[in-house]
Amino acid sequence: MVPLIDLSRRLQANSATFAAVVQQVMSSGSVLLGSQTIQFEEAFVHFAGTKYGVAVSSGASALQLSLAALGIGEGDEVIVPAMTAVPTASAVCAVGARPVIVDIDDETAAIDFDLVEQAMTGRTQAVIAVHLYGRPVDNLDKLTNFGVKVVEDCAQSHGATKGLTGSIGAYSFYPTKNLGGIGDGGMVVTDDSEVAERLSRLRVHGQSEQYVHIEVSQNHRMSEIEAAWLNIVLAQLEVGNQRRRDIANRYQLANPRIRWQATHSNHVYHWAVALPANREDFRQSMLEHEISTGIHYPLALTQQPALQQFVSAACPVAEKWASKCVSLPCFPELTDSEVDDVCAALSEFEQ
Ligand SMILES: Cc1ncc(COP(=O)(O)O)c(C=O)c1O
Repeated sequence: MVPLIDLSRRLQANSATFAAVVQQVMSSGSVLLGSQTIQFEEAFVHFAGTKYGVAVSSGASALQLSLAALGIGEGDEVIVPAMTAVPTASAVCAVGARPVIVDIDDETAAIDFDLVEQAMTGRTQAVIAVHLYGRPVDNLDKLTNFGVKVVEDCAQSHGATKGLTGSIGAYSFYPTKNLGGIGDGGMVVTDDSEVAERLSRLRVHGQSEQYVHIEVSQNHRMSEIEAAWLNIVLAQLEVGNQRRRDIANRYQLANPRIRWQATHSNHVYHWAVALPANREDFRQSMLEHEISTGIHYPLALTQQPALQQFVSAACPVAEKWASKCVSLPCFPELTDSEVDDVCAALSEFEQ
């Protein structure tokens, strides 16, 4: 079978280098917020084109702290797209605010700006724009003109955008992401020094100096071992993203008759997503050719049991997207012959 994703390939290719760095961390005696984390923050902000970066324990923490650092909390509303991973919305709940779920654009799966405008109330403090599957949201600057803060959920889009259009950006280093960790991890990026300083406090229980806490927060620290791994794989990210682009382009050329998520020159293809007329037929055909597929995501936020209390408007486009989308194997360590196999299976498929 061609796997949807196989993390062991990346892990094995880097295991000797990693073992040596782990040894250095062990002998340094510093396992949290030490030189590996500082080095990673510096290298990542250079990569992302922002001034400041605060490494945290997960993408969910990155989103939660982004909202908290912007002063969003109890009584506020934050607009989120209906097609995304659930943590985009649960981060809003984590700061005590209310997620307002709006529908997406049918071509790109990005949040629909017209519907954002309609959903705004006097309580709206922010919009979270998700660069879904690694495709940058088009014309994001227009959203910043709506007079509310824009949080960029970059969990799936490392390298798709350079610099920030919104007020703040939240990354995830969950192992399957384009920049995948050895465990959980995340990063908040900003160009605002005061926001960065607040983020650094929020990461460590709201502590401003040892044993002095000037606001209430929790533990959102990244480990040195995670940062050490991320320092190694960050150096491979640009090449990996280009390989993903090349693979996705080949898939689209192999079968232009099926619908694909709209392309973009900076797309980094965290997932290569097709929208065939009949998903079950398509997945069955891929399976017969020994190609694994996945679904991201089978439910829109409006269909999630835990989020029913926040559903105020129907989101038919996102729900239709959830019923059609199929993710194909698209990761840098796929071999050329595996990519050929996927292309052959795609080109034979008639819907
Ligand atoms: C769009 C999006 N936002 C947020 C997250 C949360 O990241 P993490 O799993 O690192 O908490 C993820 C990943 O699951 C994601 O895909």
